[in-house]
Amino acid sequence: MTEKKARIAVLVSGGGTNLQALIDACKSGIIRSGEIKLVISNNASAYALTRARDNGIHAVFVSRKKNGGQEGFERKIKELLEKYEIDLIVLAGFMSILSADFTSRYPRRILNIHPSLIPSFCGEGFYGLKVHEAALARGVKVTGATVHFVNEIPDGGEILLQKAVAILPADTPEVLQKRVMEEAEWKLLPQAVEMVSGDIITEE
Ligand code: GRF
Repeated sequence: MTEKKARIAVLVSGGGTNLQALIDACKSGIIRSGEIKLVISNNASAYALTRARDNGIHAVFVSRKKNGGQEGFERKIKELLEKYEIDLIVLAGFMSILSADFTSRYPRRILNIHPSLIPSFCGEGFYGLKVHEAALARGVKVTGATVHFVNEIPDGGEILLQKAVAILPADTPEVLQKRVMEEAEWKLLPQAVEMVSGDIITEE
């Protein structure tokens, strides 16, 4: 009898290294209570789409422009989530804003990975390399990553997991980003996805 697994959609915009960590975690058994059924990107050239397709996962580009703006963009995404009967949405390097109307439909069912220790260096305008540039500019000695539930406040939802990463004197934003990914993001996100997927399948 095949065990019930949470059906996961991953929303991406870029290189997809966090998606890759999730794919690898499903293969290694770190994630066993969920399976990735769908990948959606707002960026047609996102390498994350290639990573999905290379692993037999349905991958879709959804254009904000071609769907007539934010409302149509979110409608299309909701249609896909329903079609694939998705239980859990994971934002993994997803660089597009989702409205309060959208996030309020999925309470405690949307996760995001942010490359700092929230509440530091988060919110409006803090994404990607900008987060690490801000940490280096402030001179903090420790940074890290956070997985949190997504609500209507950018990076404002309940914090699930965090992991600290040391900043070294010679760090550049690029070097620091890579260390935060390797030592924190790629470990935390699979762990959080397994935790929430496990909760989902036990509550059903
Ligand atoms: C990275 O800055 C990561 O910290 C953040 O999104 C960016 C791209 O990640 N979560 P990915 O390689 O596309 O997963």
